[in-house]
Amino acid sequence: MSETLPGALSFPQDRTCPYHPPAAYQPLRDARPLTRVTLFDGRSVWMVTGHAEARALLADGRLSTDRTHEGFPLPSARFKGITRQRTALLGEDDPVHNTQRRMLIPSFSVKRAAALRPRIQETVDGLIDAMVARGPRAELVGAFALPVPSMVICALLGVPYEDHEFFEAQSRRLLRGPGPADVEDARAQLQGYLRALILRKRAEPGEGLLDELIATRLESGETDVEELVSLAAILLIAGHETTANMISLGTFTLLRHPEQLAELRADPSLLSGAVEELMRFLSIADAMLRLATEEIEVGGVTIRPGDGVVFSTSVINRDEAVFQEPDVLDWHRRSNRHLAFGFGIHQCLGQNLARAEMEIALGTLFDRLPGLRLAADPDTIPFKPGDTVQGMIELPVAW
Ligand code: HEM
Repeated sequence: MSETLPGALSFPQDRTCPYHPPAAYQPLRDARPLTRVTLFDGRSVWMVTGHAEARALLADGRLSTDRTHEGFPLPSARFKGITRQRTALLGEDDPVHNTQRRMLIPSFSVKRAAALRPRIQETVDGLIDAMVARGPRAELVGAFALPVPSMVICALLGVPYEDHEFFEAQSRRLLRGPGPADVEDARAQLQGYLRALILRKRAEPGEGLLDELIATRLESGETDVEELVSLAAILLIAGHETTANMISLGTFTLLRHPEQLAELRADPSLLSGAVEELMRFLSIADAMLRLATEEIEVGGVTIRPGDGVVFSTSVINRDEAVFQEPDVLDWHRRSNRHLAFGFGIHQCLGQNLARAEMEIALGTLFDRLPGLRLAADPDTIPFKPGDTVQGMIELPVAW
């Protein structure tokens, strides 16, 4: 089904408040579990809003994530350029996906994330020291939220942090660039940079996951340079952009919820539950995308081959059937079965790392700067549009 339905809501919508689902999705929350929405190109696709149906569909091999498929649903025109080329992991179905993921799983285990904690703490401490030295005001995205995950993923992969301005700028263009040519060029620039880095490392090995993959998987012929470039690109982008958004939007949200913040400060043992609740509440990866390759019966509807299927995590993670009082930020939820890291075979590979980064970054920030506050009218602080990962564009703070 790819006809345009008159009157159907267009997807995605911009948020009206940075930490709530777009107000325009409210009627869809009442029309769970699946509904029809219209994309920028006029195509009608399924939008999944029910939690149970989202879990079932995200675990269903009849939905593909291969962006090169004709008719793969896109959130906006500027992503058209990247559908011409394969994307490792997130854009691969099994069995290719499985082979790629298995190469990386050991490096992203709970144990590996725990081993990285001292390094994350050191990074966070250093950045807060620098902020304090220049204080008592800062733009938190540039001074803290972005450098924390950027430094950590660089150390993990073995990418030189000196190059951060280049790869952060290209990631920004790739995720938010003005048009398809810009997005495609950003991807080519990043790939060129990573290809040169991998070839340099092959000649002169250093320390990091890329070096390990070169020594083991590349030299054995299990992978080739182009696949490694694509894997490195997704790890580098997903490794810094998403967590940076969680830190900036998480800080903004805590400062707008003084009661919950006071509770957290009084009892730091709530921190890991609080990070999980912020993941649910903020649902920053608010547009997961799939294409049906076969017919699927779900939630009383029939998805046909060729149908686009989009998932709004902010709506799914506020399904009253699963979460009591879903619009309340509550550190005491007993089992928080949110889908903010996705579900099924593509469930976030970096989730253990992301949790460690968020706990250390948010916990240390509010501990070290007890007077932290917004330094601008909250209604004027810019946040990201609906067709990309959600987060603050800038976050002026003082302490
Ligand atoms: C809090 C921050 C993060 C959030 C909210 C997040 C969210 C997500 C979501 C929702 C997916 C699934 C997308 C889909 O199924 O369409 C995903 C996949 C992925 N994430 Fe994350 N992520 C975060 C941090 C990270 C970090 C730190 C890394 C580190 C490398 C990472 C690497 C990946 C990769 C490689 C995939 C693709 C996995 C696959 O296809 O098998 N993410 N992430």
